[in-house]
Amino acid sequence: MAKVTKAVFPVAGMGTRFLPATKSIPKEIMTLVDRPLIQYAIDEARAAGIKEFIFVTSRGKSALEDYFDVSPELERTLEAKGKTSLLETLQNTNMDSGAIAYIRQHKALGLGHAVWCARRLIGEEPFAVILPDDVIAGETACLQQMVEAYDETGGCMVAAMEVPPEKASAYGLLDVKEDHGSMVSIKGMVEKPKPEDAPSNLAVIGRYILTPSVLENLHSMKTGAGGEIQLTDAIAQELTDGKDVYGYRFRGQRFDCGSKAGFLQATVAFGLARDDLRDEFSDYLTEMAALQQAAE
Ligand code: G1P
Repeated sequence: MAKVTKAVFPVAGMGTRFLPATKSIPKEIMTLVDRPLIQYAIDEARAAGIKEFIFVTSRGKSALEDYFDVSPELERTLEAKGKTSLLETLQNTNMDSGAIAYIRQHKALGLGHAVWCARRLIGEEPFAVILPDDVIAGETACLQQMVEAYDETGGCMVAAMEVPPEKASAYGLLDVKEDHGSMVSIKGMVEKPKPEDAPSNLAVIGRYILTPSVLENLHSMKTGAGGEIQLTDAIAQELTDGKDVYGYRFRGQRFDCGSKAGFLQATVAFGLARDDLRDEFSDYLTEMAALQQAAE
């Protein structure tokens, strides 16, 4: 089985849900504690063995390119001051020359179209897709879990998680063929169906391992839900063509950082997970909760 060494990061969205913050900074640069969202996605990809990082961007996203570039002045200053741990943190954001590529999505035609824009850089090998809005905390990186599972199955694989039924229509949903616990083989998938058409509440979360044939499917894909070219539809096409598609129930906690509430929850969770912040932060949260209760 060919190794998965390339990952696509669709980051062309305008991030309107976070206006006015996203007026001048890309949504992916917004920080959870002290790291931008995109750093979490990159770290997860690295843990999964990804060597090539393909960003599908749009106008107004140059801050992302700068973020992954070296910053010699800053590095010199930290070195001179002997701030080695900060220097190390900073160097973690650098990318090897040639490891990162940027492709522009010229029109906002949807997630499927964004991935299709990267087709020439992906070529004829399996690849991963990471949606940085979905931040997943866990002992083993979600994509790493999937790569390990994929080594056994091949085919296409999507991260999956049960969501509350009343929220299911905001997701791509899986129609389960056989449920083996963490691994689920599926017989259908549908993007943001009406509640009455939902096949289940097992939702696609923003991690995918895909075969190059999905790119061919995208080539002739018609617009789907929301008038956009949907990645879900191109993966569903694999099923129609008689190929295997799997859902993978990952171990870890997923935060929807595309929503304000999810972003705040992630901030609290990642803040509490930090040794240098935990005590002070949890004291504050306890105090806040008590005040809130007293006010009710
Ligand atoms: C995208 C996918 C959807 C998936 C979701 C997970 O939707 O199209 O299938 O369930 O990500 O976050 P979006 O949230 O970008 O509308």
